[in-house]
Amino acid sequence: MESSIRIGALISGTGTNLEAILKACENGRINGRMVFVGADTSNAAGLKRAEKRGIPTFVVDYSRIIREYKKNPDPRHLPEDYNSEDIIRRQSLFPKDSDPRQVAAYFAARAMAESELLSRMADYPFDLLVLAGFMRNLSPYFIDRVNTDPMRLRIMNIHPALLPAFAGTDGYGDTFRYGCKVGGCTVHFIDYGEDTGPIIGQRAFQITETDTIDSIKKKGLAQEWELYPECISLYAQNRLIPVKRTYTMKNGDIRQRTVVKIADPDE
Ligand code: GAR
Repeated sequence: MESSIRIGALISGTGTNLEAILKACENGRINGRMVFVGADTSNAAGLKRAEKRGIPTFVVDYSRIIREYKKNPDPRHLPEDYNSEDIIRRQSLFPKDSDPRQVAAYFAARAMAESELLSRMADYPFDLLVLAGFMRNLSPYFIDRVNTDPMRLRIMNIHPALLPAFAGTDGYGDTFRYGCKVGGCTVHFIDYGEDTGPIIGQRAFQITETDTIDSIKKKGLAQEWELYPECISLYAQNRLIPVKRTYTMKNGDIRQRTVVKIADPDE
């Protein structure tokens, strides 16, 4: 019998996914409990859902931190353990031929916010961190401090599209504008790219002629509220196994990708 997991959550908005996860913890669908909810803005209405239940919350004001760093980009303000070259070498949010100064400034400002996030989270030991509508990219600085064991990925995200289509901030809007006949949502582990990490689960729904962005969003959210607790429950049962696969393409190129194997309950 596996033990109950401690879950931390980060949000930016309404927190309807957070609510679905909290309910699933309460009714036993997830063998776990929420130990903190953090947000990147005090406007995140979802914080109230945690407060109401007596779950600790905190806010790390990303906008203020990034604005202040841009105004005064003094490297002495950066976290002591921050190594700009190392982060830039590992990141995959920006193409490798991007302006190095711009990339360095982006990750330095992120590290300022992320080190504050890490220090707030340090008060609440957790097994799994779930991003539930958290609208910030996480950098290798943060990710490597949470994922200390490469075989135990610890950061999950829900995305409002069938990845790898429509990464970014407006998955349902992009799905609608493209004229897709099917939409969906994806739960995945976080890696260094934008919405590129190993996929855990996906749900799809039909899009008809009468659908609008709003109706697509409504259909999609209803699927998200089912899918996210389901994936977290699999994690709590230790059934999500990252597997590194290697493929040889027709032209001889070698491609590698970490995928998620879902183990049988009795495996
Ligand atoms: C959800 O649709 C989620 O998939 C999306 O934000 C919404 C949050 O809703 N996440 C992203 O776009 C992440 N890039 P909620 O605050 O009501 O859970």
